[in-house]
Amino acid sequence: MAYFSSCSKTRHCYSPMLKNFLLGIIVVVSTFQVLVSALDDSTAAKSLSSNLEGPGDDVGAFAVLPDVNEDGQSIEAEINQIDDTNLSFEELYEQGVRAYDDHLWYSCANKIERAVQDYKVFKHTLSNCRLECSKGLRESQLANLTSQVPDFSTFGKFLRDADCYRRCTEESLDTHPQLTDRMESAFEKRLPYHYLQFCYYKLDRLKLAASAAYTYYLANPQDVDTKQNIVYYRDTAKVSETDFVDLELQPYKEHYIRALLAYDEHQWGSVIFHFEGCLEEYFKEHERCLSDCEGKGQLQGPEFSTVVADAIVDIMACKLDCEKKLSTIYTEPIKLLLQDIYHHLQFAYYKEGELEKAAEATASFLLLNSTHQVMLDNKAILKKELHYTDDDFIPQKDVAEYAALREEMQALMDIIKREYRLRDLLPEGEVINLLSRADQDLKETDDWMSRYEKLGMHIISKSVDLHRHERFVTDGLLKEDQCEELLALTEDLPTEPIGSRKFDLKVARQRLEDDLNEDYEASLRLFVRAAEVVRHYTQRYLQISVSLHLKYTSIVCWSQPQEPALIESCHIQEDGTCVRFDDMADELYSDSYTTVTYLNTADEDGDFQFLNEKNEVDSAFGIKCGRTVGFNSGDRHTIKVPKSGNPRCAMVIRYTTDVNNDEKDYHDTLTLLQRIDELRLANEAKNAKDIMKQFEEEGVRVVQTGKELLGTERFVADGLASDAQCSTLRSMVQNGALLGDGYDHLDSKPSFISPHTEHEMYQGITIYRAAKLAQQNTISPFGLRAFLELSEKSRLLVENYFNLTKPLYFDYTHLVCRTAVGDNSDRQDLSHPVHADNCLLQSDGSCTKGYPAFTQRDYSAILYLNDDFDGGEFFFAHSNKTEQVAVKPQCGRLVGFNAGDFHGVRAVTRGQRCALALWFTHNPNFKELAHIQARKTLKQLELEPEVQHHEDL
Ligand SMILES: *[C@@H]1O[C@H](CO)[C@@H](O)[C@H](O)[C@H]1NC(C)=O
Ligand SMILES: *[C@@H]1O[C@H](CO)[C@@H](O)[C@H](O)[C@H]1NC(C)=O
Ligand SMILES: *[C@@H]1O[C@H](CO)[C@@H](O)[C@H](O)[C@H]1NC(C)=O
Ligand SMILES: *[C@@H]1O[C@H](CO)[C@@H](O)[C@H](O)[C@H]1NC(C)=O
Ligand SMILES: *[C@@H]1O[C@H](CO)[C@@H](O)[C@H](O)[C@H]1NC(C)=O
Repeated sequence: MAYFSSCSKTRHCYSPMLKNFLLGIIVVVSTFQVLVSALDDSTAAKSLSSNLEGPGDDVGAFAVLPDVNEDGQSIEAEINQIDDTNLSFEELYEQGVRAYDDHLWYSCANKIERAVQDYKVFKHTLSNCRLECSKGLRESQLANLTSQVPDFSTFGKFLRDADCYRRCTEESLDTHPQLTDRMESAFEKRLPYHYLQFCYYKLDRLKLAASAAYTYYLANPQDVDTKQNIVYYRDTAKVSETDFVDLELQPYKEHYIRALLAYDEHQWGSVIFHFEGCLEEYFKEHERCLSDCEGKGQLQGPEFSTVVADAIVDIMACKLDCEKKLSTIYTEPIKLLLQDIYHHLQFAYYKEGELEKAAEATASFLLLNSTHQVMLDNKAILKKELHYTDDDFIPQKDVAEYAALREEMQALMDIIKREYRLRDLLPEGEVINLLSRADQDLKETDDWMSRYEKLGMHIISKSVDLHRHERFVTDGLLKEDQCEELLALTEDLPTEPIGSRKFDLKVARQRLEDDLNEDYEASLRLFVRAAEVVRHYTQRYLQISVSLHLKYTSIVCWSQPQEPALIESCHIQEDGTCVRFDDMADELYSDSYTTVTYLNTADEDGDFQFLNEKNEVDSAFGIKCGRTVGFNSGDRHTIKVPKSGNPRCAMVIRYTTDVNNDEKDYHDTLTLLQRIDELRLANEAKNAKDIMKQFEEEGVRVVQTGKELLGTERFVADGLASDAQCSTLRSMVQNGALLGDGYDHLDSKPSFISPHTEHEMYQGITIYRAAKLAQQNTISPFGLRAFLELSEKSRLLVENYFNLTKPLYFDYTHLVCRTAVGDNSDRQDLSHPVHADNCLLQSDGSCTKGYPAFTQRDYSAILYLNDDFDGGEFFFAHSNKTEQVAVKPQCGRLVGFNAGDFHGVRAVTRGQRCALALWFTHNPNFKELAHIQARKTLKQLELEPEVQHHEDL
């Protein structure tokens, strides 16, 4: 006997977290309340809090609440000063943040509130215009313009829509702010509410403050301070839970929440009312989301058709994501929201006796999921009760259109993904950059394999040597420092009884979400990009004509099991399993490949072995950092596990040519990293003023600015390093430098000992090498500390002197000396020819930003260490390579400039010139990992004497 099933908790109809949600908050209001009305009682807050925090601010500063603002103004005087009727959200927001910095709480609240409102109007206007224009509800001046000119019939519509859209936005908006990525990300992440809550709090508007905190929390559930604040408002400030309001709540969400509350109370009429409202608003919101995607295409590249095609693919991907975007009601997406709504709705209709409506809801649900057993059972019941046939079950019109559109888009996207040659995930330059930092003379025309070879990768065994198709072994895919950084990801992971230990992207995301550790994040970024590089290489080496997709990406480490019996009768696999020979696949698959990239060296008892059909070893080799073995996933192999010592670790990647098996975790990880970037961007505190003041107090002086140096982003500062630090760094070079330019795998080539001129010898130490030398006691911890500290000081100065709003990361750090050799009396050449650091200077004076230049570099700095030599002046140059203005080196002097500026170095005619050269980037993916490793090393070294001390006792 079948029962008509409801949506009970055991059936997981809706997310269980709804019930035990942080505060069980009931959401009441969705419109913005105006603050001004109740100003009279707002002059002083009564309660003091020890755990309330404002964004980017120190709680201590607010320990005592004043009756007046800090600068002595009364709030009324503050109100009278506000005269900004026509400002855009961008200006309002910036002024609001400034008011916050200046402790003008009323202005802060007022301006940011209006910024939020204005932003909403702005976004709404844009999407209304887009919708009206694309639907033809608004006429374009070009409406009647048609032509038989080739392509016009296709692209004419874009002209008409674009004309309509521009006119529409111009008519509807008073101000036309350019929506920068930074602003958009700040508003989308609800950052204004972060400020608002604190300003409201200072004004004693506690309910509003609580709501602002809650609103911010919903978009930033990982923010610990905000959680604490919410608890404070509830427990200490006694704000009732019903007064916590999501100030950005969209109508469909409000309906949804109210409907579920009514459902719990069995108020079926109310359930129906709200779910119907929810659906109506949901489809509107979905349409808006689709249309907003039109503003999200990434346009890059010179070729019209590929630009358009790439943009279309981006937009389609964005549209397909709308369903997911809209399904977040609180902080986590509700699984299958739309199905969930129809499921509840059909039950409520049934309870109210509206069987026809119940049938419609059932049909709507089955359109979204035709195999759902519960719903099929319900359908059978309704069929009987209504004497319906299958044809009588007609879904709602909205959902029918929605489902058809979604299906069509998905089908298109599948074909595109399979057939269209998408942009590589990383632009070519980035792939190269990850592999190598050498200024290599690679030509666009070189094929990929010869490029790889020039970058230090070489194939050591091909399939002929290895006795089967698709097998290969290549060296040089990763460098020592990269291996080390990837190994760090496997620390603290549990080891299975069998002896394997596994890291994958699920583990990584979980950890990063729990604790946003920057070092871990940097390692994860390397992992993600290294996987992409190996994929890139494998695809090109095996010459697979369709795209290879990552199917599963992991790091697997093996050590001896506690119970040797566990691995006695099976063959250990690189992927962490142990299988019997009879269970191994016997033939090569058509669509699945595996690569294993080793992260450490193991002596012969860690060999990799290919097996043949008789279970004999076919070929075998030892492993070391950067060595990669590739094979068909159906191929047979086994490995030996070292008897002792460190575990044997490798990056193990499985690929597929089937786009539907594309690794979701990989894309989710990219998304997470992207979100972290955006969040960081939006949260970047602007305290450049204070940092510059501190530099001044430490005796650092900017002695020349862009004006004197004839450029916009240039400066010279003195006093950055002490004499002792300068000589420490210089002696480090004497003790530990490699001849050459520091690009390690090239040190065998004589030309790189003097890369720029034969009259000078070039020696350098990278930060990675410095850390290694310190470990070997070749240089002192003091030296390593000076290296790290001076680099960081330089970075901080450049970032803050230029008032940069995005974080600046190290891209490459290099301590270098140039020494004059031989007879130098009539030298005509330069020590370093005129160039820019992020583009290639062409003979016509233009500078092309492209491979193989280090296009990621945004700023450069050089910190000088001495002046006891002749020549060697640094100079800025014109694009025709003539000198513009020169700077004479001396200990502690730093030249900072935009990496696109042309510059060079005059010949060093006597003695040795030493400097710390630094390159910086805004792109976190290029963050120089060696700084992390060097910091770890330093910490260890500085702890060691203490340990010995204890042993002495
Ligand atoms: C605001 O805009 C209106 C018309 O758009 C203009 O007349 C007025 O002068 C502006 N006010 C300010 C303060 O700029
Ligand atoms: C387009 O043509 C129609 C019919 O000929 C006319 O009514 C309309 O005004 C024209 N629109 C514009 C913008 O010229
Ligand atoms: C349909 O519902 C069933 C549960 O009955 C579930 O296993 C399946 O994943 C759902 N399919 C879709 C496409 O949502
Ligand atoms: C940075 O900002 C400060 C304060 O706004 C300003 O005085 C200074 O000139 C700015 N520096 C540069 C290099 O633009
Ligand atoms: C190089 O360019 C600068 C600035 O454009 C100009 O003043 C100078 O005369 C040029 N020199 C030569 C040799 O062309």
